[in-house]
Amino acid sequence: MQYNPDSSGKFTIVMNTYRVFGFWETIKEVILYLLSQKPHDDFDKKYGVVTSGVTESSDAGIADETARSLAVGYVPTREVVIRHILQNTTRNLDLQEYSFIDLGCGKGRTLIVAAQQPFEEVIGVELSPLHCKVAETNIDRYLSNTQNPVLCRNVRVSCVNAADFVFPDTNLLIYMYRPFLGPIFKHVAENLRRFQSVTGHRVLIAYSCPVEELMLEEYPGFVKRTEYQVISMDYSWSFWECQAKEPSVLALTEHR
Ligand SMILES: C[S@@+](CC[C@H](N)C(=O)[O-])C[C@H]1O[C@@H](n2cnc3c(N)ncnc32)[C@H](O)[C@@H]1O
Repeated sequence: MQYNPDSSGKFTIVMNTYRVFGFWETIKEVILYLLSQKPHDDFDKKYGVVTSGVTESSDAGIADETARSLAVGYVPTREVVIRHILQNTTRNLDLQEYSFIDLGCGKGRTLIVAAQQPFEEVIGVELSPLHCKVAETNIDRYLSNTQNPVLCRNVRVSCVNAADFVFPDTNLLIYMYRPFLGPIFKHVAENLRRFQSVTGHRVLIAYSCPVEELMLEEYPGFVKRTEYQVISMDYSWSFWECQAKEPSVLALTEHR
């Protein structure tokens, strides 16, 4: 992903930021960017949950050393970003035929936002047992508060390495916010390819802060539908569809 744009690239980035954040938030974003400050986050207060904060992978109770070394630490997606992604990726889809899956769901913030849409199922996949517990508590709290908007009650957290997760037999909207790197990303991409070619289901992938997207570009079967580069790469995202004709023979490294 290019992050030294020329002036027309800069204009596109500002326009994308405006599309994702709106006028006033864009102004705030630019100021915060120039001051290297973090934005205010009121998600937890609004929904009575605990999803904020940053946790390094080394503090997340992850037993598998290799997976831990390839894991990116926990940071939640900004609410405005996940809402923008859902709004732009679910248009014209019959969501009752789709499962929303956040690979590396952390404390479950995106699951809460996705449960506000009529998905068949909402699933978080998370390597850290500590984050899984928090995510489950957050989901319970969110779903049990009758004031909260809920269109999908079929929400669960699977505490496994995303590379070992077995996808449900439905169309998929996969979400990832730079969860893991290198061989694990490759393994997941290969699993999705295989799933798509065997089941024929649609496999859509929204990849936020797409640090490994070159792998998707080089992989036959993944087609980029759109991308939004915004002022901070952390909030940029690209949208892909997997259209595999047959499982690839790409040798997967055993190293995870
Ligand atoms: C940047 S956070 C994103 C959290 C959440 N998706 C969100 O957007 O709010 C990345 C998460 O991926 C998890 N993760 C890293 N490697 C993983 C793996 N191999 N399988 C499942 N989860 C993983 C981390 O523990 C962390 O919680």
